[in-house]
Amino acid sequence: MKKKFSQFGSRFLGESGTKLLMDDLAQVAGSNAFINLGGGNPARVPKMESVFGNAMHEILAGRQFEDIVGGYDSPQGNESFLEIVCEFFSRNFSWDLTTENVAITTGSQSSFFMLFNLFGGMCVDGLERVIQLPLTPEYIGYGDLLINPDCLVSDRAKIREIGSNFFKYEVDFDLFHIRSNAGAVCFSRPTNPTGNVLSDEEVNQLVTLTGEAETPLIIDNAYGSPFPNIVSDEIKMPKASHVIHCFSLSKLGLAGLRTGIVVAQPETITAIKSINAATCLSINGIGAALIAKLMVSNEIIGLCNEVIRPFYAEKSRLAIEIFHKYLSGIDYRIHVSEGAFFLWLWFPGLAISDQVLYKRIKERGVLIIPGSFFFHEDNCSWEHSKECIRVSFAQSDEALETGIKIVSEEVKRCIKSIRT
Ligand SMILES: Cc1ncc(COP(=O)(O)O)c(C=O)c1O
Repeated sequence: MKKKFSQFGSRFLGESGTKLLMDDLAQVAGSNAFINLGGGNPARVPKMESVFGNAMHEILAGRQFEDIVGGYDSPQGNESFLEIVCEFFSRNFSWDLTTENVAITTGSQSSFFMLFNLFGGMCVDGLERVIQLPLTPEYIGYGDLLINPDCLVSDRAKIREIGSNFFKYEVDFDLFHIRSNAGAVCFSRPTNPTGNVLSDEEVNQLVTLTGEAETPLIIDNAYGSPFPNIVSDEIKMPKASHVIHCFSLSKLGLAGLRTGIVVAQPETITAIKSINAATCLSINGIGAALIAKLMVSNEIIGLCNEVIRPFYAEKSRLAIEIFHKYLSGIDYRIHVSEGAFFLWLWFPGLAISDQVLYKRIKERGVLIIPGSFFFHEDNCSWEHSKECIRVSFAQSDEALETGIKIVSEEVKRCIKSIRT
């Protein structure tokens, strides 16, 4: 075929971290050849699987199934589910919402695609605006969304070292300012890939600064409060008219159902509804139907706090213990594990790049994600960005033990500084 693709099309055809990750996931699906410590699949949590299985049986037993699959819902999402979402957030967070404040999307990745391109890129007033990430490393999936890739900009995190083997990223408020061409500011909390949770103080400061600059602040709660609530400590959810909250059902164990929720001002919700209508007509309602009753009864809060949260807390503890065992003797740092289901490791003085390390580890049958994909700067000059990897701990204990042993062996082969 001689004809060329459009610029829009070509935007999605190059190499990208998200594609690598999803290709790796597809390669390992149904294969025993790899231990997958790479992708963002949630763990199989038996209690959650049975809760959702029972909800599906109930749906199938009545006429609800035919109603859900037989027709198109509103492009804003199922009307009665929108009301359930409003009541849920009003009850739990005292947010004063109407259905005009809520839209359902086909997963939060799709929410970010819409929001980034609504607020970033060439705007109707003739100004080109950027989406600003107040600290990197940040979620790999933000890197491929903007039609103009130059419109994603990020600020380097400040590193606080904790003891000899831990560290934490913080927003560097000494340097941080809202850029004059910022269309929106965005961060994930907890952060994928690092397991960082921005403190309430950091979040409040960002809410104030963006409010003063009249710039929307997009908060990605894919792993956060109130569901799946994979956080080690309680966090507060900020409320302000310029804050846009994004939620997802994926990390509860419903990733295949592609359901995201956006809470924002009516103007933004109307825009999302219009894009949904144009790009997919309507939203798949099964995710909403599976969770609806659990939100009405508030049971979802208990399940997150009593099942999901302790499940991942134990996995995190185990993964850290195994890394300590196999990495001992070399210089390594683990980001404090405050949420989500990844460990982020930093090897100061790594003699090869994170990308080469990834390939070597993959050759030994283990998948991880090279850290540089999360830095969102072309040819990032920060040495640190090539010294990190992300490892998922949402796997069986046996896979963690075997996989982390292999990762550690490969790291030890190429670390410059061996501790004495
Ligand atoms: C931080 C973060 N945000 C958003 C998403 C997108 O999730 P989904 O589209 O499944 O809702 C992910 C998926 O891994 C993520 O890690």
